[in-house]
Amino acid sequence: MKFFVDTADFDAIAELHELGMVDGVTTNPSLVKKSGRDILEVTKQICDLIDGPVSAEVTATDADTMIAEGRKLGEIAENIAIKVPLTWDGLKACKVLSDEGRMVNVTLCFSANQALLAAKAGASFISPFIGRLDDIALDGMEVIEDIRTIYDNYGFETEVLAASIRSVNHVLECARIGADVATVPPAVIKSLVNHPLTDKGLATFLADIEAAKIKIL
Ligand code: E4P
Repeated sequence: MKFFVDTADFDAIAELHELGMVDGVTTNPSLVKKSGRDILEVTKQICDLIDGPVSAEVTATDADTMIAEGRKLGEIAENIAIKVPLTWDGLKACKVLSDEGRMVNVTLCFSANQALLAAKAGASFISPFIGRLDDIALDGMEVIEDIRTIYDNYGFETEVLAASIRSVNHVLECARIGADVATVPPAVIKSLVNHPLTDKGLATFLADIEAAKIKIL
């Protein structure tokens, strides 16, 4: 499963990139607002660093303006994935931009039927929001599972990009189900390394190193 980093915080992306953990990046208007940066400037900086897809979201709600915005975002770099919302206008924009050979990430997906429409409109990525479904007592993971089944049944090439990930268990379940990509906030990626038995085991080894005066260098 590929890891995209779900943030517009350039320093956080750069830190994870050094460790080889970044296969791509997703941003959205809320993440750009949080970064306090200009969308075009921060997106360009991210694209200069990361080779994989970098999602940047349109701001319009009508298809024609979304298409114009998508083309402008596409000028930033070859690896831009234009993010459009899962509305009829978003799907129209997806079809036009995909036909032009651009990567399109259809976002704000909350059902497998919506994901089916996005695949038919030629999306490169579909972004089902797990956490926001869980927030309203629905089962986000079930939606990922249904999309995986439907895409496999019919050989759709659209990649399942699990989004709105809030916990290490979300990451584990996505990998189990076979999501192509999980876009994960930096803090959750970092917390994947934690295990109390790792800490406990290391403490024992360090005590024995000290007691036996074991030295390598
Ligand atoms: C995905 O592309 C979105 O940017 C993101 O995952 C949304 O996550 P949230 O529900 O935690 O805001």
